[in-house]
Amino acid sequence: MNPARVAVIGARGRLGRFACELLADSAEFEVVAQLGREHDLCSVLRECGAALALDLTVAGQGAVHGRLALASGLRVVVGTSGVSRAEAAELDTLARARALGGIVVPNFSLGMAWLNRAAETLASAFPSVTIVERHHERKRDAPSGSARDTAERLSQRRGGIPVPIHSVRSPGLYAHQEVLFGGPGETLTLSHDMLGPEAFGPGLLAALRFAARVEGVAFGLEAALPAK
Ligand SMILES: NC(=O)c1ccc[n+]([C@@H]2O[C@H](COP(=O)([O-])OP(=O)(O)OC[C@H]3O[C@@H](n4cnc5c(N)ncnc54)[C@H](OP(=O)(O)O)[C@@H]3O)[C@@H](O)[C@H]2O)c1
Repeated sequence: MNPARVAVIGARGRLGRFACELLADSAEFEVVAQLGREHDLCSVLRECGAALALDLTVAGQGAVHGRLALASGLRVVVGTSGVSRAEAAELDTLARARALGGIVVPNFSLGMAWLNRAAETLASAFPSVTIVERHHERKRDAPSGSARDTAERLSQRRGGIPVPIHSVRSPGLYAHQEVLFGGPGETLTLSHDMLGPEAFGPGLLAALRFAARVEGVAFGLEAALPAK
């Protein structure tokens, strides 16, 4: 089978460079366009022959680029931080109207998907829950999109009570998240550490495979993983 053709938006960024190398090593996908700020996304996406757009840019642009890619007839994987569930639902409507599909993935790491599943299971087991996320000092947004996603999942299961997030930025860190459940005289902590971008590889490929075959836009990597 021919490899699926992918346009990477934000290709010169940290995650974009990693994704381009990952896809270059994969027989399933071929990168046909590497896009940055200097490109007219609309015209390149229409003309490059890609079936899929992978957006890895900057918080605030994920939904914008997702809409643009769908309007240009491409399926989408949005890994950029900060896309809300409401925005993902709008992308879903747009995709279905065009018989296209995709996925919004706040975190491509399989370990984070499992942390979320475990945290959701424990959501109402303790009176208090707090998220601590720690990232390298070059990360532009705080709190991280992943921490906000975990907080939203927990809040939904705790009757809408907001879940506080503490953010730390420091050299020497990569990407780390703890979910701290507290009760009288005890705590229970779920902890996840990523030491490098290779942690995103298997989830990124799973998200692209999923986006290539579905109709509608899903939210969260678990949609692209085997059922619980
Ligand atoms: N889903 C996940 O698992 C995951 C993991 C890590 C990071 N992220 C998120 O993914 C995004 C990228 O992360 P990163 O670490 O690679 O950031 P980065 O190193 O800052 O790279 C972002 C890239 O996007 C480009 N860009 C920004 N705005 C653009 C626009 N309007 N059109 C085209 N290109 C644009 C930037 O170009 P300039 O250099 O010219 O600004 C840069 O090359 C962030 O939102 C980050 O939070 C998600």
